[in-house]
Amino acid sequence: MRMLVAGASGFVGGRLLAEAALEGVETAVLRRGAQGPSGDLHSWDPASGRIAPACLQNVDTVVNLCGAGIADRRWTRARRKLLRESRLLPTRTLVSALGQAGGTQGRVLVNASAIGFYGDRGEEWLGEGSAQGRGFLADLCAEWEAEALAARQAGVRVVLLRLGIVLGGGGGALARMATPFRLGLGGPLGDGQAWMSWISLEDLCRAILFAARCPGLEGPVNAVAPEPVRNAEFTRALAAAFGKGARLPMPAAFLRLIFGEMAREALLASARVRPALLEAQGFSHRHRALAPYLADLFRV
Ligand SMILES: NC(=O)c1ccc[n+]([C@@H]2O[C@H](COP(=O)([O-])OP(=O)(O)OC[C@H]3O[C@@H](n4cnc5c(N)ncnc54)[C@H](OP(=O)(O)O)[C@@H]3O)[C@@H](O)[C@H]2O)c1
Repeated sequence: MRMLVAGASGFVGGRLLAEAALEGVETAVLRRGAQGPSGDLHSWDPASGRIAPACLQNVDTVVNLCGAGIADRRWTRARRKLLRESRLLPTRTLVSALGQAGGTQGRVLVNASAIGFYGDRGEEWLGEGSAQGRGFLADLCAEWEAEALAARQAGVRVVLLRLGIVLGGGGGALARMATPFRLGLGGPLGDGQAWMSWISLEDLCRAILFAARCPGLEGPVNAVAPEPVRNAEFTRALAAAFGKGARLPMPAAFLRLIFGEMAREALLASARVRPALLEAQGFSHRHRALAPYLADLFRV
């Protein structure tokens, strides 16, 4: 397998390159603003659609992880525009390059999406066939997926990987949450009843490589652990991993006041998602249960 990764400088991309190297997969990288091409590093400018055709030479797998951070800050009008454009334009640019490259039979595009597609769904179990939810995030995921699916016209197998909350060291959601919990100042979000569908960073990278190799996977694929947890259980597990209590709940009204719609859709929404298709194709998670995973991750 030779794999081209866009968004490789991020939290998931960095680990994916390391996992790929362990599995003997050759990689090349697309980076905005890079001086290049040099070796396996190619520059591109997804905002203007510029991409070097040579970047797809001998490539059978394209992984797209591009997108500005969803839960980093309040969704102002400018932020929403950036969240959309940083996903739709890179995807469009990659799909167009795949279409022009020719000889695309046998190629696969593994495109990141998110379980935000399902919206806020309470207690309902969600599989790949569940309907789209409501809200900005759900609409954005649907648009993002539609852009990626256009690569099918060029004979490319397209996997829309709907990522849950990715938990791993060195970045992502845990890096944002760790400090208050380390200080014993953590607590549940809202009433703590919302379902959180998570996946370990290692399992996600294994799932990306698995999806690239598995012809039976096509279209939406949930990339989550088999055992989602309620926010209250997540809070207890993270606090326990640091040997601290977590008795400072963050009221939902306060979160909505500070973060607006972002809080409602990204912090407080309940999504109880199953990795139905990954499991049906024989993918085996290394991290199924949250508490032992977090305990291992933060063990000193
Ligand atoms: N981490 C999670 O919990 C999670 C959950 C659900 C979905 N996802 C999705 O999975 C993907 C990877 O997540 P991540 O945590 O690795 O994200 P990340 O650390 O924020 O990295 C995302 C990458 O996107 C590229 N990027 C950022 N702004 C961009 C822009 N304006 N235009 C084009 N590219 C831009 C950057 O690559 P360059 O600077 O190299 O171009 C960056 O390395 C994202 O699309 C994210 O929305 C993540």
